[in-house]
Amino acid sequence: MLNFNYLIPTEILFGKEQISNLESKIEDYNRILFAWGGGSIKKNGIYEKVIDSLKNKTYFELSGIKPNPRLSSVKKGIRICTEDDVDFILAVGGGSVIDCSKAIAAGVYYPDDVWDLFMRKATVEKALPIGTILTLAATASEINASAVINNEETQQKLSITSNLLRPKFSILDPTYTMTVPRAHTAAGVVDIMSHVFEQYFDTTKGTYLQDRLAEGILKTCIKYGPIVLENPDDYEARANVMWAGSLALSGLLSFGKKGDFATHKIEHEVSAIYDLTHGIGMAILFPNWMKYVMHENIDKFVEFAHNVWDIPNMGEKKDIANLGIQKTREFFSSLDMPTTFFQVNISYEKYEEMATKAVYFGEIGSFKKLKKEDVLEILKLSL
Ligand code: NZQ
Ligand code: ZN
Repeated sequence: MLNFNYLIPTEILFGKEQISNLESKIEDYNRILFAWGGGSIKKNGIYEKVIDSLKNKTYFELSGIKPNPRLSSVKKGIRICTEDDVDFILAVGGGSVIDCSKAIAAGVYYPDDVWDLFMRKATVEKALPIGTILTLAATASEINASAVINNEETQQKLSITSNLLRPKFSILDPTYTMTVPRAHTAAGVVDIMSHVFEQYFDTTKGTYLQDRLAEGILKTCIKYGPIVLENPDDYEARANVMWAGSLALSGLLSFGKKGDFATHKIEHEVSAIYDLTHGIGMAILFPNWMKYVMHENIDKFVEFAHNVWDIPNMGEKKDIANLGIQKTREFFSSLDMPTTFFQVNISYEKYEEMATKAVYFGEIGSFKKLKKEDVLEILKLSL
């Protein structure tokens, strides 16, 4: 196990009607940016509840934040915060709204183009505090230090990470996720599992505890993923998936390990160009990444097959490993996720561009370090 500093400072208010605590959580702030997406919160009544809690505050709204959040929304938010002297950002929505809010929080104090922070030309030195009300279980942005933004001009999707961006609090009411459409619910479950894979398939030795925690989260997704699709109003299932989502990318699983995240970097460049739902891209790519890298550490894949998919430890290692990968693919398919880019109308025309962008800052991943040629191979396997 590697050395680490444990830091997950976000206060999580989990459960039914936790929104009743919103007013007390924002009592120290007076001028609030209320950020939201395309209108789902108006349809399911969350919007009114938020407005009710903001009644004694001066607040400004930033709406229309799209999935794969655009840099233009970030810039618009920064303008509002600067001109109106905002002292707190309340993000209400899924990962896209939260990521956009984090980028705004960082950009307010950065004197130049906020995209510089994503291009690694500068680091986040200061940020506005943010709080979130999560409406979709997937990204863990509600608890983690990262934000992923789509620059629509350059068609790049890049991330920033800073502990200054971790939300002060996040309200997680599983009932709020009951209105998430079926496809986004399924994509969320895949995204959660993908986050676990990125940290589970790691070369660091002696991380028994982290690996068992990871398997517990995967098993939770495997148990409750089909139930949330079958019965969207099942509280127990929604609650388990929601908490799994936060824990999966909170940092808990990667403390003491390296982490990989190559597949995420590849997917981000796919969704940057094609505006694909992130979890759908992960469902297509991950089993192919697994196939491509499994010989780097076949024992890890045998462990995965055995502990997660209950495949008996009999026969040749590569067959057991392949069965585990096949089970993963079949599970994603059972959630109605596509298995090829062809199914989502993506063909090879932009493979070269996506592969180039994925390795823009150098080789990616750690389980196997991937060069552009490797990324191209994984994309080809995904066609
Ligand atoms: O915009 P609205 O109208 O709210 O609709 C959204 C959107 O269309 C809808 N939705 C959300 N909650 C709902 C709901 N519809 C009905 N009822 C509800 N309760 O769902 C759609 C998708 O929302 P989005 O926020 O885009 O989904 P998600 O949470 O999956 O976020 C995806 C974004 O996060 C990034 C992805 O790349 C993508 O841009 N990620 C962020 C990460 C992070 N910050 O750590 C890590 C992830 O790996 C990921 O890369
Ligand atoms: Zn993800």
